[in-house]
Amino acid sequence: MDVFLTVLLILAALILLYVLWCLAEPFFLVNDKVVLKKHEINKGTISKETISKLPLVPQGSSDAPDLRLFFFSDIHTEWCPVTAARMNKAIKKAHESGGVDAVVFGGDIITYPENSEKGYKYLNEVSACCRELGIPFYGISGNHDCNLKNAPERSGFISLDTNSVILSSRKSDAKAYLTGVPDSGKIHRVWQEKLSCGNEYPVILAAHDPDAFLHLSPDSRPAYMLSGHFHGGQMKLPFRFEFNVLRTTDKFPKMGVIQGHFNINGTDVFVSRGVGCGILPFRIFSAPEATVVEICL
Ligand SMILES: [Fe+2]
Repeated sequence: MDVFLTVLLILAALILLYVLWCLAEPFFLVNDKVVLKKHEINKGTISKETISKLPLVPQGSSDAPDLRLFFFSDIHTEWCPVTAARMNKAIKKAHESGGVDAVVFGGDIITYPENSEKGYKYLNEVSACCRELGIPFYGISGNHDCNLKNAPERSGFISLDTNSVILSSRKSDAKAYLTGVPDSGKIHRVWQEKLSCGNEYPVILAAHDPDAFLHLSPDSRPAYMLSGHFHGGQMKLPFRFEFNVLRTTDKFPKMGVIQGHFNINGTDVFVSRGVGCGILPFRIFSAPEATVVEICL
């Protein structure tokens, strides 16, 4: 066999492996943990923090957090090999090992509105699991959900889009607001400047698109933020091609904020890779993720 043919065969095998991995990776749900802490609000600094591994610190131990949320985002149910049953299993496991105070969905039920029933069915299964465990289930809209009518009611979660709730620490008398901002979609984009909560307690903001942070007025900057939207790039390409060429309107990816835990101007931010696949049914080096978010007030 000549050298040319050998190189060709190796290249073909590599391409085949790449395609197979693109199709396989959406099935691998990663359950991880992130610990968010309160910082001094500052200007102009972004630093990347580390994501921790499970298991959780047992309930009642001295270094347990004030609050524990289970956060998942971007199910895009048209192509979401991670079933609701698997998501529920992860919620139950987190609840049994450390206790979960709230489950929060970060938006993008579907990619196309005509498939909404499939998305509602998925979230209703999660909602039933939360009811069984006695955990409240909250959610916000994603940019793909802006044309859905009554999506929270039909999905079985309490909307935080223009709403807030107060969460109480499990180990002290500290409290926090949990609130959200609505996503208006990308065509006629409206950014919120103010939040739907008071200022007596630190704010945990759920915002589908992390770029929402850049449009908040300085007095509305939250202490903690949970987001999704970028899918971790979904299919990571060299030189961040997906963000520098394909999705040029997104601002945070150009600053390196794509997925993971960041301290942005003093706000502790977690950006999830999400669960399902948008547009194309592939993921590469960006596995689906459902995260236990521990909050120290
Ligand atoms: Fe999405």
